[in-house]
Amino acid sequence: MSPIGVFDSGYGGLTVLREIRSLMPQYDYLYLGDNARAPYGPRSFERVYEFTLQAVRYLFEQGCQLIILACNTASAKALRSIQQHDLPAIDASRRVLGVVRPTVEAVGELTHSRHIGIVATQGTVSSRTYELEMAKLHPDIVISSRACPMWVPLVENYEFDSPGADYFVRKDVEALLATDPAIDTIILGCTHFPLLYNKVRTYTPAHVKLLSQGEYVSRSLADYLSRHADLEARLSRGATARFLTTDDALHFASAATLFLGQAVEASQISL
Ligand code: DGL
Repeated sequence: MSPIGVFDSGYGGLTVLREIRSLMPQYDYLYLGDNARAPYGPRSFERVYEFTLQAVRYLFEQGCQLIILACNTASAKALRSIQQHDLPAIDASRRVLGVVRPTVEAVGELTHSRHIGIVATQGTVSSRTYELEMAKLHPDIVISSRACPMWVPLVENYEFDSPGADYFVRKDVEALLATDPAIDTIILGCTHFPLLYNKVRTYTPAHVKLLSQGEYVSRSLADYLSRHADLEARLSRGATARFLTTDDALHFASAATLFLGQAVEASQISL
């Protein structure tokens, strides 16, 4: 078995896995959520890097040839170091990919005003990774960022359709748009935020597009695999998905049902 590994700090990456599986159901998938140490959003660079590297090593030990860091915070804070420093020493033939680059590639096609907004965790915003990637790919695009620290807890506590969600989503979206009225596209730059999509849509003017990452990450992965036939040939094709968590497996399984829209079984592991 050499499944595609999908890693997140917790449940949110399941929204990305769902899109990847629906586009490429033929492969095997191994999802790992580090729920015991989530959220990663407020954590330091050092901790996010340390925890993400542990997860990457674990997924490699399980046979993964390719790992997607479905977590924006891990992609923003740990991916570059893992790709440049750790991967060559562990096994240069394996790959670890993130969600920031495919998102930045996609937004170039969506914005006409060339002014975009991003909502994300504090960690992703303060890393300025989106700004750095945007400057490389689309230097003409102006970005305004807004950290939304209440959004992940709202989703984790099943409050995504509550008056609290209305309050915080409205407040953050209005604050973001006030910083730059020319924004015509907003990136939902956090795995959990697709579950708040309806709320964000409610408080965002109709002409402003919302970019939910799963669709673009899955298309980008399909394109990547079509260009890397040697790696693609090493992936197993049993159409299975297994779920691992560093916290309670039953709790994970019930939350995963919400994120994936299908019942799953999970196993607990330690990193
Ligand atoms: N998965 C994280 C992200 O996409 C959100 C949850 C967390 O803070 O750990 O940034």
